[in-house]
Amino acid sequence: CGIVGVTGVEQALPCLLHGLQKLEYRGYDSAGVYLMDNAGNDAYIREKGRVAKLAEKAKANGFIGTSGIAHTRWATHGNVTIENAHPQKSADDRFYLVHNGVIENYQELKAEYLPGVHFVSETDTEVAVQLVDKFATEDGLSNVEAFRKMISLLGDNSAYGFLLIDTKEPGTLFAAKKKSPLLVGVSDHGNVVTSDAAAMIDVTKEFIELRDGDIAIIKPGSVAVYDANEEPVDREHFTLEIDPEDTDKGAYPYYMLKEIDEQAVVARNIAAHYFDEEGQLQGIGCAITDKMKEADRLYIVAAGTSYHAGLVGKRYFEQWAQIPTEVHIASEFAYDQPMLSAKPFFIFLSQSGETADSREVLDNVKKQGFPALTLANVMNSTLTREADFALPVLAGPEIAVASTKAYTAQVLVQAILASALGNPGFDLKAELAKVAVEISAITDEKETFKKIAETALKDQKSAFYIGRGLDAAVALEAALKLKEISYVQTEGFAAGELKHGTISLIEDGTPVFALLTQKKTAGLLRGEVAQVAARGANTVVIASKSLTKDGDAFVLPEVEELLMPILAVIPAQLIAYYATLDRHLDVDRPRNLAKSVTVQ
Ligand code: G6P
Repeated sequence: CGIVGVTGVEQALPCLLHGLQKLEYRGYDSAGVYLMDNAGNDAYIREKGRVAKLAEKAKANGFIGTSGIAHTRWATHGNVTIENAHPQKSADDRFYLVHNGVIENYQELKAEYLPGVHFVSETDTEVAVQLVDKFATEDGLSNVEAFRKMISLLGDNSAYGFLLIDTKEPGTLFAAKKKSPLLVGVSDHGNVVTSDAAAMIDVTKEFIELRDGDIAIIKPGSVAVYDANEEPVDREHFTLEIDPEDTDKGAYPYYMLKEIDEQAVVARNIAAHYFDEEGQLQGIGCAITDKMKEADRLYIVAAGTSYHAGLVGKRYFEQWAQIPTEVHIASEFAYDQPMLSAKPFFIFLSQSGETADSREVLDNVKKQGFPALTLANVMNSTLTREADFALPVLAGPEIAVASTKAYTAQVLVQAILASALGNPGFDLKAELAKVAVEISAITDEKETFKKIAETALKDQKSAFYIGRGLDAAVALEAALKLKEISYVQTEGFAAGELKHGTISLIEDGTPVFALLTQKKTAGLLRGEVAQVAARGANTVVIASKSLTKDGDAFVLPEVEELLMPILAVIPAQLIAYYATLDRHLDVDRPRNLAKSVTVQ
């Protein structure tokens, strides 16, 4: 979900709608806004579906306001309905609240404190706002006291980013956060609150990070922050260094295509950041490498696409740095921690730096006193702040829900980090320059991938990606890309395992994409391609130049074999993109998903 709020601006509505549009990738089941001005006029508008629908409704309403709060939702408690959209309000229409996160004990709170209160939604958020109202209106607490009391009642495993308005105190916003991102932005022409700084960069680039347990009171000319002990605190300010244009899709029909194309530039930016002109590594720091060298085992923890990037990174840490490395799914590791080595070192991989599952693990790991490094695309995010060390992944803002350039960037940065610990045996900087050139060579072949998507996947409901070794890791990511946006049920598979069960799913015409970039197993993989072809599969082989054979669907340009995952994933990204276009689906916003999942 995404939150934006403004106060003291000339026109609240356009500011909030613009912010919501930028946040839409965080959830787009429904959206809503509450606006007011100093004279006490207000408007409360919610709509199911996209922000554009809310915008239409709000513009027709006509009220602009000078302060307000808005939200775009990814449903957790309660179906996608207007009643469940945020802001939620108290029954007497006094308080309005938007919320990211989950209140685990909301049913208990409702039963204990709010018997007899009429609820119109199924959300945990409505319980929170009704509680604030009860404590302020019935019990006579001040707004901050009422807000704090409500928060104090939330179960330990609750997560929240809250933004509250009291209609009796126009122009004031009350914000609070725990395990969910929330930032305050300051400027001479109004202050803002947002769950993602990039959503508000048109208003300001100067932000204050709130910490877990903080409550902030934001007025047009002032921001006061109090910590969990109710003490006033000065939180660090930072300036966001992104160009507003980076978050626009320009001439591209979808962000995903723009982000696929950006991968060559991203590879160059990463090389320029982490190598100096003489080709020496820079920007990593001995503190990190010394700690990593002390470790007897690395534990990479991540979710989704980032987990897949970790599966590739493992190879670099083991082969170049000679450190045994395990890769774990964050949501599993969090509650079933495996037996650890004597001197573990943790690496958190994350595009957003906010994934709740990964944050849970980081919390646990910190409590056990183990060192942790976060590699994230969004710096100043929770995972970067809370780990001992952080390094930027430098993919630039990634908006499409399906991650593309963040994956390749994560793979690249892991390679660079591993090379700082050991020896890749080749000139990595020179090879990265080559990788960047070859990425462009592949993204220039869009027509080829469009044709493959339109023919091999036409009317298909299921598909496979297979590979061995590093190609098996890429097959998982390739399959995720295709299934998450086109809804073609796709399995990524270690090719040798197919014959042990899954091959029974192969029917006449089932598309099986084979990724073939690893010499050692190329022959075996050819055998597996033949096995599925013999059972009727429509095989589409994507092979590197020196391993290709007649009849392959695409020939990948060749770079160092261990870096081939960076090139091999790109055809899969483009095939997924075109298969989705062919199905007339929204490439950037697949159903049921959110870009940044801040709930567990
Ligand atoms: C969500 C996104 C995925 C992403 C995953 C992990 O599920 O839809 O694309 O890979 O979260 O996110 P992170 O920001 O930690 O990389």
